[in-house]
Order: sequence, then C-alpha cells, then structure tokens
Amino acid sequence: MLVFGTRPEAIKMCPLINELKGRKKIDTVVVVTGQHRQMLDQVLNTFNVIPDYDLSIMKPGQSLFDITTNILNNIKPILEKEKPDVVLVHGDTSTTFVTALACYYLQIPVGHVEAGLRTHNIYSPYPEEFNRQVVGIVSEYNFAPTEMAANNLISEGKDPNKVYITGNTVIDAMQHTVKKDYTHPELEWVGEDKLIFITAHRRENLGEPMHNMFRAIRRVLDEHPECKAIYPIHMNPLVRKAADEELKGCSRIHIIEPIEVFDCHNFEAKCHLCLTDSGGIQEECPSYGRPVLVMRDTTERPEGVKAGTLKLVGTDEEIIYKSFKELLENENIYCEMAHACNPYGDGNACSRIADILEGKMYSPWKEQ
Ligand code: UD1
Ligand code: UDP
Repeated sequence: MLVFGTRPEAIKMCPLINELKGRKKIDTVVVVTGQHRQMLDQVLNTFNVIPDYDLSIMKPGQSLFDITTNILNNIKPILEKEKPDVVLVHGDTSTTFVTALACYYLQIPVGHVEAGLRTHNIYSPYPEEFNRQVVGIVSEYNFAPTEMAANNLISEGKDPNKVYITGNTVIDAMQHTVKKDYTHPELEWVGEDKLIFITAHRRENLGEPMHNMFRAIRRVLDEHPECKAIYPIHMNPLVRKAADEELKGCSRIHIIEPIEVFDCHNFEAKCHLCLTDSGGIQEECPSYGRPVLVMRDTTERPEGVKAGTLKLVGTDEEIIYKSFKELLENENIYCEMAHACNPYGDGNACSRIADILEGKMYSPWKEQ
C-alpha cells in the first residue's frame, strides 16, 4: 500500500506506483489522504494514477491538529480491511507521519521513501523534521536517496540491514519532463529577459519571514529591468495574502496558479536563477545548473550546498536583497553557482525499491 497526500509526495510516489504496478509479484493499493486537493489532483492526472481510496481530509486553512486527527481516524479502517504486507510513505509531511503512526499502532511494517534527510532541528523545517525523524523510528525499509541520508540513519542507530541507498524517485520523474523545444505563454512574456523563478510556502515562514522575502524580491526586481519573475503561488490562503500585500502592482512579476510538474521542471530548466523555500526544488534546479537561493535557515539537502549550487540565505530582508542582487550583478559568483550537479541518483530509484520489495536485490547500506 502506498499512502500520500500532498503535491511533492505525489510527484515522487507516482513513478513508483507505476513501477510497482508492472511487477507480477506485487499487488498495489493506492491511498491518498487528500491533505492537498487541487495540487494533488493535478499530479495524479499527470501520471494517470487513480487512487483506490481517497480520505479527502483537506479543509481551507487547516491546522496540524486537523490533519493529524482526521488522517489517523480515517486510515484505520482501510489498513484493517486491506491488511497490507507493507505500507510505503514518503518524506516528511503530516500525511507521512500520521500514516506511519497508524501502521505502528496496528503493527504493520512501514517503508520510508526519501528516508534519512535531516537538519537536526525539529523546528526547522516545522513540522517536517519531526515528522521524518519519527517515521525513521518505526520504518522497516529505509530507502535513502543519498549516502549522506543513509549515514544519518546509521548514526542514529538504525540497523544497517534496513537501510538502502536507492537515489531519489524525483530523478526518475525528471527523465521525461524537460524538453528543449518547450514553450509556454509565460516564457514568451519573459522573452530575452532573465527569468527568475520563485516559490514559497513553508509553514515556519508564514508571517513576517514571508513578508521579508517578498519585500526583498520586489526591491531587486524594481532595480533590475532585465529580469522578469514567475511565481506559481501555493494555494495556502496565508501565502496568497502575504504575496498580495507585498507584490501587488509589481509589473515585473507574474503570480500564476500552481503549474503542472511538467511545466515546473521546464520553467526551472529555463530560469536564470531560483528563489525558493521548497524542498523538492532544491533537488531539481541544481541538476539543470540553475543557482538557487534557499530562503530558509536550514536545509536537509546539504548535497547541493556542498556542490555550490544552493546557497542558504535565511529570511532576513537585507540578506535576501543583497544575495539576490549580488547573484545578478557579479558574474563570477553566478558562474561559481551555475553548474550542473545531481547527487540524487541515476533515475532508477523506483526499480531499485521495487526490486528490494520483491526480495530480488539485497544491498543494504555498507560502511564505505
Ligand atoms: C504541506 C506539507 C509540507 C509540504 C507542502 C508541499 C505538512 C504539515 N506540510 O504544507 O511539508 O512541503 O505541503 O506543498 O504536511 N490548499 C488548497 N489546495 C491544495 C493544497 C493546499 O487550497 O491543493 C490550501 C488549504 O487552504 C490548506 C492550506 O493550503 O489548508 C495548507 O495546506 P497544508 O497541507 O496544511 O500545508 P502546506 O503548507 O501545503
Ligand atoms: N511544483 C509543481 N508546480 C508548482 C510548484 C512546484 O509541480 O507550481 C513541483 C516542483 O517541481 C517540485 C514540487 O512541486 O517537484 C515541490 O513541491 P512543494 O514546493 O510544494 O513542496 P516541498 O518540496 O517543499 O515539500
């Protein structure tokens, strides 16, 4: 059984569903919690995945209490009816944490896809770091995307026989999305100008930090007529309110509705640079050689920082303003960051995970 509920989980689990459906020895059951609605459905449509169960829990402006209690109560009867041999969850959302908790209560084995990412600060990102650490305690199969992630699990005392380095399933998804001849009306609007790609949604950034980000971005755009920004905005009403208050009337930014993952990857591949607080985008942009200013204090993806394509700039207005301006004005700094780096796998993560689940391949983590 695969259980997921938000856009990024869907992007990274749908390729795995399609791989598992092709395996004769495996029966798959797909459960979506519906923690996201429109943004989840967009991805399900792209990958032609039809869930067997949909808990439909999303409420506008939902709290962590709403998500946690609704999933916990609604998933129990499904787990009891289906009696899965293993439940696969992904990453670090509330859907992931609560599903793992429900499995623990019912003593059903959990497989954690994208296991072992850590900042070691349970309030940053909030609540994701807590979520993934808790799932790490209960999971039987730990599919770490990188060696660093696997080492995090081992150093926490995880049994090495339960840790596998598979690569990240997002790289599998990316094999088929980016096209050289891709066009889009928004890219025509940008024309020969520099495309700045923006996303922002993190719960710990809601409020003043998000206002700081938007103010800094607007100041730089006002000073740089050669830039145009595209910002596919998250559906969270608090994000929309902050963007409306700080960015309204700025002619050099287009705030658009969430775009399909196919479009998103092509926008990333064509941008000059990206400003984001997203997790997944920190994995994607570096592989296109696009510099990313990460508007967060911590990252669980140090591989990209080590490689030089990601830079943590926090949420202080002056620091974001200076870092963004510097990246536009200093060619040396730009060139140092703009090189392709992909520490997240070779695009075969899904088939590795399926092989491990079928018992075909046994290659747990080994001391390097
Ligand atoms: C969630 C995850 C976060 C992940 C993010 C990906 C948790 C606690 N947070 O945060 O880890 O990075 O998804 O985007 O699990 N909304 C809609 N339609 C949608 C989606 C959201 O209207 O399709 C609105 C609703 O008002 C909803 C709000 O956005 O209540 C917030 O959604 P929620 O899932 O609680 O938090 P995210 O910030 O999206
Ligand atoms: N994404 C998308 N459409 C958008 C914005 C993002 O398809 O309008 C994709 C993006 O390519 C990445 C994922 O969504 O794969 C990131 O999701 P998000 O930033 O919501 O969550 P996070 O990764 O921070 O958990």
